[in-house]
Amino acid sequence: MTDPAPHEPIFTTVAEGRMALDDHEAVTAMLSRAFPTYSHWYQGARSWAGMQPEKRVIARSGDVVVAHAGLRRQFVTVGETEVVVASVGMVAVSPILQGTGLGAQLLALVDRAMSDLQVPFGLLETGEQTVPFYARHGWQLLPELTGTYNDFSADGGATLVTSQGGWLVKPVHTTIAAWPEGALHVNGQIV
Ligand SMILES: CC(C)(COP(=O)(O)OP(=O)(O)OC[C@H]1O[C@@H](n2cnc3c(N)ncnc32)[C@H](O)[C@@H]1OP(=O)(O)O)[C@@H](O)C(=O)NCCC(=O)NCCS
Repeated sequence: MTDPAPHEPIFTTVAEGRMALDDHEAVTAMLSRAFPTYSHWYQGARSWAGMQPEKRVIARSGDVVVAHAGLRRQFVTVGETEVVVASVGMVAVSPILQGTGLGAQLLALVDRAMSDLQVPFGLLETGEQTVPFYARHGWQLLPELTGTYNDFSADGGATLVTSQGGWLVKPVHTTIAAWPEGALHVNGQIV
């Protein structure tokens, strides 16, 4: 196999315990640009806003982080059932590179990471505009699902937030039919 061209970003999947301070700073810098409305969440080396991930998929161009996603396994309650999910969040591509296919590569590696984590489902919440991006990559929108979680830390993590219309699930080692009926309670923060 030939080496990628110098300008081509290199993807790695890394455990949180392997992230050095520099890595957190580089991720934080990219997240604050990709989420300008929430740049107050991403300052210095604080590279997470809700639950700290256990794994990250990171693309770098040289030392610069150009794409990122975070994942963490957690139990959530759906109706009366406890379900293990990979909470997926902080999915972002550097603004100047959006629309060039990096997002698709990122989600393919998120799939692989979820499979390695042996979870039945991936779970994420997103806005109306980005639902089609995830849907094109096999994530299923559950439009009726209401989900309650604790707010992102920088905005006051003790507050409970309930939202509907933006919850997506991806079956990993199962089918969507296995997703239980009922309201989602995260019982904590999401990634
Ligand atoms: C959402 C996001 C991660 C998608 O990443 P991306 O790199 O732009 O995604 P892709 O390039 O793979 O695909 C996006 C679009 O670009 C198109 N595209 C892919 N490769 C392309 C290329 N080589 N040239 C031009 N367009 C291309 C895709 O077809 C797709 O178009 P469509 O939406 O009209 O179907 C990115 O836009 C982003 O970081 N947004 C801000 C943060 C955010 O909202 N994150 C999600 C929060 S949960």
